[in-house]
Amino acid sequence: MTDWRLCNLIDDRPADGVFRLHRAIFDDPAVFTLEMARIFEGGWVFLGLSSQAPDAHDFFTTQVGRVPVMVSRDGEGALGAFVNSCPHKGARIAQTWSGNARVHVCPYHSWTFDSAGRNKAIKWKKAGCYPQEFDGTSHDLAALPHFAEYRGFLFGSLVADVMPIEDYLGEASKLLDLVADQSEEGVELVPGRVTFTYDANWKLQLENCADAYHFTSAHPSYIRILEERQREASDAGVVRSVWENSDYWKEEAEGIGGGSFSFANGHVLNWGIFGVSDALPLYERAEALKAKFGEDKRNWMFNMRNLTIFPNLQIAENASSQLRVIRPIAPGKTEMRTWCIAPKGESARARQQRLRQYEDFFNPTGMATPDDTVSYENCQRGFAGKVDPWLQSYVRGATASRPSGNAFSEMLGMAPERSVLADSQLCDETLYQSYYRAWAQRMAGAFGE
Ligand code: FES
Ligand SMILES: [Fe+2]
Repeated sequence: MTDWRLCNLIDDRPADGVFRLHRAIFDDPAVFTLEMARIFEGGWVFLGLSSQAPDAHDFFTTQVGRVPVMVSRDGEGALGAFVNSCPHKGARIAQTWSGNARVHVCPYHSWTFDSAGRNKAIKWKKAGCYPQEFDGTSHDLAALPHFAEYRGFLFGSLVADVMPIEDYLGEASKLLDLVADQSEEGVELVPGRVTFTYDANWKLQLENCADAYHFTSAHPSYIRILEERQREASDAGVVRSVWENSDYWKEEAEGIGGGSFSFANGHVLNWGIFGVSDALPLYERAEALKAKFGEDKRNWMFNMRNLTIFPNLQIAENASSQLRVIRPIAPGKTEMRTWCIAPKGESARARQQRLRQYEDFFNPTGMATPDDTVSYENCQRGFAGKVDPWLQSYVRGATASRPSGNAFSEMLGMAPERSVLADSQLCDETLYQSYYRAWAQRMAGAFGE
């Protein structure tokens, strides 16, 4: 353990108007090790979408903290989540990202498991002279103690002592509904996945998704291109921008353009008003969605929404629609797995529009992601400086933050813990406080050590 004790990493004194983080929370190896044990391996984390394994015997693999995990659909259609590790000697059973297999044969000594994780064969068992006790032991893959689905979103926990997933998601589940309800068939990941790493802490990605403050500073080239395109809007083949009716980055904008919501257990939303426009691929369903859900909920589906479900799921519906899974590798290294998420059954034209907007903004090859990851890496290098260790983000917006929802959350019948209504320049940073209060709760066993 380092000089600073864990309990001194967050200086949270609401009555004094103080909330600050010690830089060590981002680069201390002891903190990272405890985060793996207490946050990623100590409670609910996002695993994937049920649509990633649509048919019998389909599977996909992921990672929960340091633990490899396989989600598999059995022959009867039921999904299960297992530690992707052979009970014989620990080898990973599945080595691919996804596939279809009635049986999984361990590559090391050929123990065999079905798609429900049951051991089906032990090579040369009769000749193995096993003691009697061996037959009384389960040789199945270890199932995750908790595995749950909410509207096609799959979550798992490596510990048994967790609240039901509905309670964990709480009011933020209504924001997952906004994604799931865009099609009667639900959502899917568009084929094609991008994985990349950046040399900085995972919590920088956690924060950045909710960070409205950086947009005009870190993405000037993107904004210049948007402005250029608007001037030349008649050009055929130009990617329509969903921001075109928004005041999101406009310096002169006044009045409410969006805001933030904070929820229990560390979930947050940063949002902005886009308007129901044919610049969004969802426009083809605008009338149908209004008829089904009413105008308020339909309009919310068209708002810019950057949602974080703590600790590892982000759904960014801004320039296009992206699902991100955050995987910490080391204090200064993080892997991002990203997909385009889309309503099932949208027209080919809408899907094409979504993909072109996606390529434009997202991915290491897009016009935004590299700006962000470079900034994370800049921060990580800067964290080495601990002469004054306290970071001064986290209180911007403090006097605008309300301990309840507002008219916009009421449109969804949603009751967040806190809310901020903002013009284009307020750019609330208090919503990160929810991350760190949830972080502290999960790390609680470590406090006072
Ligand atoms: S490690 Fe799997 S069969 Fe030996
Ligand atoms: Fe960004």
